[in-house]
Parts: sequence; structure tokens; C-alpha cells
Amino acid sequence: MKIRFDDLTLPEGGAIVITAAKDGSLSGSAVAVDKALDGAVGRALAASRFKGNVGDQLVLHSPGDGKFDRVVLLGLGNPKDFGVLAAQKAGGRALAALNGTGAKTATLLLDLAKNAEIGGGDAAAHAGFGALLRSYRFDKYRTKEEPEQKPTMRRIVIGSPNAAASRKAFKPLEKVAGGVFMTRDLVSEPANILYPETLAEQGAALRELGVEVEILDEDAMRELGMGALLGVGQGSKRESKLLVMQWKGGGATKDPVAFVGKGVTFDTGGISIKSAAGMEDMKWDMGGAGVVVGLMKALAGRKAKCNAVGVAGLVENMPSGNAQRPGDIVTSMSGQTIEVLNTDAEGRLVLADALWYTQDRFKPQLMVNLATLTGAIIIALGSENCGLFSNNDELAERIMAAGKAVGEHAWRMPLGDGYDKQLNTDVADMKNIGGREAGSITAAQFLQRFVNDMPWAHLDIAGVTWTKKNAATVPKGGTGFGVQMLNRLVEENYEG
Ligand code: BES
Ligand code: MN
Ligand code: ZN
Repeated sequence: MKIRFDDLTLPEGGAIVITAAKDGSLSGSAVAVDKALDGAVGRALAASRFKGNVGDQLVLHSPGDGKFDRVVLLGLGNPKDFGVLAAQKAGGRALAALNGTGAKTATLLLDLAKNAEIGGGDAAAHAGFGALLRSYRFDKYRTKEEPEQKPTMRRIVIGSPNAAASRKAFKPLEKVAGGVFMTRDLVSEPANILYPETLAEQGAALRELGVEVEILDEDAMRELGMGALLGVGQGSKRESKLLVMQWKGGGATKDPVAFVGKGVTFDTGGISIKSAAGMEDMKWDMGGAGVVVGLMKALAGRKAKCNAVGVAGLVENMPSGNAQRPGDIVTSMSGQTIEVLNTDAEGRLVLADALWYTQDRFKPQLMVNLATLTGAIIIALGSENCGLFSNNDELAERIMAAGKAVGEHAWRMPLGDGYDKQLNTDVADMKNIGGREAGSITAAQFLQRFVNDMPWAHLDIAGVTWTKKNAATVPKGGTGFGVQMLNRLVEENYEG
């Protein structure tokens, strides 16, 4: 879908979106539209339950003399609460409403924003960003869908008090959306199409944007001693890979920031096999890797002035005659040995080697890893927050602030020696499960054993990677959660 910016003037016709604040008070543009239509908007408003609250909407088809074929009235609530995120959501809701009307193009007049926290061209730019984010759809395998069932919108023109400023502000946002879309695509692909090799190829496509990409195969990883990661993948016909991406947009002397993702392209549980119900969800067990790839795309796309490393451990966790058994003991790249008591606690094994490799090779100033690591984090936090675990208060605060700014929330969880002890075992340096209690925390403690004394954070994104219901800027399916948060983290703290 194309997003354009223009002046805040009434179009000749077509579909338009206008706004009202709480108590139904119409914006300047909405008043003008009402006048042009002989009071049709006001009459519709009076005859409806529209109150102008956030999320309220009224759709009129060819009202008044028919000058406009569709008029969508959108509630924006209290103007003083109308910030960046509200503008994004308004854009997303407008787009969804327009798709429902069958319109192909529309003009969005969002002039209420001038009373609010963001003025100038910013509100329009963020409305465009929200509309774009909501327009995402994974439909490449729907070959028989009737054209009338498909979303119709092709182009949206957003009226702005300063169209030039809006265009400028929208440029990097559009690149971020490109990263989010890539992540959504990756988590949406089924595991017969997306497996370690093909996911790595998707990462390699970022070379086009100037990202340096290496793909390590099993021989290379064996050479490095990555017995933990390789053990997870050994039951699969698909070869495990390590995807290594570097974006060098900062000075040559700056230590990079590093992002590490769990990329289990399908998690059957292995010999500790999962039950059948819902196992299809495990196609998105590569969500952490998906975010790392999408983030690198966003950073390179907007030519971020930073050095960033993205590493993804890519494996398929399958049961087979060659699969890892419960009780096997593996040696990780760090030299530490692990007793694998449950082959379904595989993400931490993959990350153990990916994290060690990343800090060993790149000596980054910080590491953030992302993983759909535990079902327990879904029980604890649901889908409102991802779990955040960190050994560094400053980094944790920065991540939470970045998340809040973009509407991707992280809730900090504890770490501590008592939890760490749950991983001790008699026959090896550690076991890969810590028992029923505090399952997300013991998983994080496990990861921490593979991180030296450096700022590190682990985001458990199991509850936020996939959604079954539409939200204003996130259609159901893969969310891309994490791309915006970490792009913002970099932008605010590690650029220039
Ligand atoms: N990939 C799963 C975690 C998961 C569950 C992600 C549901 C998204 C939705 C992970 O590999 C796993 O199986 N974790 C186990 C750990 C247990 C065996 C200690 C879990 O959470 O049950
Ligand atoms: Mn598992
Ligand atoms: Zn898993």
C-alpha cells in the first residue's frame, strides 16, 4: 500500500476519513465536510452511538449529495492524550475501516492533532506508519480468495499541516515497517518452507542493503565446538546453520551492539515430544531470529549510524533415530557441559552457543537476545508484555523506555543465585531444566551462564510473537514484536 502526504485540504471526492474528539466535537476538516454535505455528518452523528471516544467509528456511504462515496468518522478521544502512538492507532483503524468499505484510495484528514502533544507533520507521519503497519497481510498461499474478500485499499493520502515535514518524518518509519514486515513474513511461513537453510538465505538477502552476511554450516560449528546447538539439530534432516549479520554504520572504532535470536524453525520437542494440540504454533519458534533479521533490515534500511551485529541460531528440533536423547551430555562452545534432561528445553541450548560465539568474536558493548523461550512466560505475563531479564539496570531501563515509546512493553523479571542453583546436577556442569517452579527465570539463568561480565538482556517473547486477534496496528498473525522496540533502543542510545 502506498502512503502519500498532502496539504490539509478537502479532496474533490472519493473516500475520506475525518475525525472528532470526545463528546463528538468535529475537527475543522470534519466541519468543512459536514458543510459540503448539507449537514449529513452531523445528522448521522446525532442518530448514532458515536461519542468520539478512541476507537469509535462511523461509516457513511455516499452521504448528502454524494460528493464523497465513503466518509469514515473516527473518534480520537481527548486531544490532550493524542500522541505518537494514538496517531499510529488512528491510522491503523482508519485503514481497517476503509478496507471494510471496499475503497481503493482515500484521503485522511487528521487535523485534530494540532491541539495535542504532537503537532506539525508528526501526527500525519505516524498515522501513515500505523496505516502501513495495519495493511500487512500474509496471503501468498491463498490462491482461491474472491477478489471482493480481499482488502481493497491501494493508496492513502494523508492531509498534513506540513506535508514536507511529514514526508521527511515518514521516511525512516517506512524502513522500520519494512523490517517489521520481514519479521512477520518469517514467522508466518510454515516449517516446510522455512527451515534453517532457507531462513539463512532470507538473512543473506540483506546484503543488498549493505549488510555483511555469513552463514556457518554444521562443519564450521563443529569446528567451533558448538555441541549444544548441534545437539538440538541432530535429529533433523535439515542442516543447522548460524546466521551472522553485520551492519557497519558507525565509526570503525565503535564496539557493536549485538542482537541474538533463537531460530528453531520447528519445535516438536524432540524425543521429549510435545502433545499434538497446538503444535502447529511451533512454526513460529524462530520468532527471536525473525526479529533479529527484521531489525537488521530496519537498521540498514534507514542507514542507522551504529555498528550492529545480528546472530541467529537456526535449527529444527525433531525426533528421529539420530535425535538427541534425554540424559545426553553435550559440551558447549564455552567448554561448559550440559545434561539434556528434556529435549524440549532446546532454545536455551541453541542460544548458549550463539551467545558465546557472539561475545567471543565481536566483543560487543552489549548483547540483547530474543527467544520464544518458555510457555511459562505466557502464563506469567500473557501477551501484554514480554519478559525482560537483565544483569544491567541501565540496559533494562533503556529497553523498557524504548518499548514504552513504541507500544511494545517489556516487564522486568528477577534473576538470582537461588534460581541459578536449580540448574545444578551431579553429572555435568548444569542441566537444561530447572524444575516446575519459576520456569522462565531458570531458563534465563541458564542463558546467563553463557554470558560473561557484560551488559546483557534476554527478552522472552513467547507470549507476544503471534496474536489471534486484530489490533489497531497489528493484524492477527505474526506481530513483529521487538523490531520497533530494539530499533528505538539503538536510535535513542547507540547512534551518532
Ligand atoms: N518453544 C517452546 C516455548 C513456547 C511454548 C513458545 C509455547 C511459544 C509457545 C520451548 O522450546 C519449550 O518447549 N519450552 C518448554 C520448557 C520446558 C521443557 C522446561 C516449556 O515452556 O514447556
Ligand atoms: Mn521446546
Ligand atoms: Zn522451542
